[in-house]
Amino acid sequence: MESFVRLQNRRRFLEKRFDYLSLVPAAAAICYPFLLNAFHAFVGIQAESPPALAIASATFILVVAFIVPFLGIALACRPTSGPGSRRLAYASVVSPTLYVFLGVVQILIKSPIPDEVVWCVIWIAIAIWSQSAADPVAPAAPAVGAWRVVHGVTAAVLSLYVVFHLANHLFGLIGPDAHAAVMKIGRVVYRSAVGEPLLVAAMLFQIGTGLFLAWRWSAAAHDFQRTYQVASGAYLSVYILGHMNSVFIYARSFLGIPTDWNFAIGAPTGLIHDAWNIRLLPHYALGAFFVLSHLASGLRAVLIAHGVDQRNADRLWGVCVAMSAIVAAAIIAGMSGLRIGALAS
Ligand code: HEM
Repeated sequence: MESFVRLQNRRRFLEKRFDYLSLVPAAAAICYPFLLNAFHAFVGIQAESPPALAIASATFILVVAFIVPFLGIALACRPTSGPGSRRLAYASVVSPTLYVFLGVVQILIKSPIPDEVVWCVIWIAIAIWSQSAADPVAPAAPAVGAWRVVHGVTAAVLSLYVVFHLANHLFGLIGPDAHAAVMKIGRVVYRSAVGEPLLVAAMLFQIGTGLFLAWRWSAAAHDFQRTYQVASGAYLSVYILGHMNSVFIYARSFLGIPTDWNFAIGAPTGLIHDAWNIRLLPHYALGAFFVLSHLASGLRAVLIAHGVDQRNADRLWGVCVAMSAIVAAAIIAGMSGLRIGALAS
């Protein structure tokens, strides 16, 4: 009995000394680009269908790549993690979009170092920081009341653009011409001399307030719903910043190309068969999925604050998340070449 107690104490001591699970998000993030490389090795650069086994292997690898951010969300929920480890888990959620951002910056600065090398160095640095970060006791609910309201109000306004923008991408399922026609109508407003600066300023404001809220909330452990809201918001902050960098700086200024359908799908090779472009697939899919489900998380919080029964609010949230996944999958299917006409015939 005594030796059992001693053994238990020793185990607790070792667990307290080093929490190996806290490094799993960094390990998963480091694997991320290599999973995409493995996907590319299986599908190749040929548009003709590869053998069935290669398709199955590539699909499995892509699914594993998609698990990286969701593993980060699961690990961010752990009540036993310190703030450093929890923030590392949150950071790993943004891997798919951060890898696109990094790739674009690498092109802009004409870096001779492979993306994978820079990526690994970044994650090792973040992992070391996460373990050495101080462990202050954080309040379960930080005092961020006014910022939450401001963030929510701007989100409601920006959601008008986001809903139009994603609906525009759904027209890709009909074809590039339909996508271009809808974009032409929207551009009258969001690319006007007044509309565009306002949109960019509002997006930057949203990123700023979002990152502030995410930093404060990530100091302590929370239930799944709150963790999901923080994690999806963190993803969106990096996504929108990187996305605007790609649109305004990389495409329009650096390359001087139009930011149209061909730019979005990485023409001429497309999303699937290009070694670089494949990183756009999880980046876009999760961008569309997280923006819609993040709005749903906000709606859930507002409903509960206004007296709606939590179970009903949760049910509505679940429906919205399922719909977000369907919309994201449909956009990516269209961008990858699926056409509604082809399904009907
Ligand atoms: C499948 C997902 C997405 C794709 C393929 C995509 C693609 C594009 C493209 C092609 C443009 C250029 C539009 C133009 O030239 O008129 C653009 C602009 C933009 N996108 Fe997205 N986008 C996606 C999701 C999102 C999301 C989720 C957000 C915000 C949360 C967002 C925010 C923006 C912003 C702010 C601009 C700049 C608008 C401007 O030209 O003034 N995008 N996007």
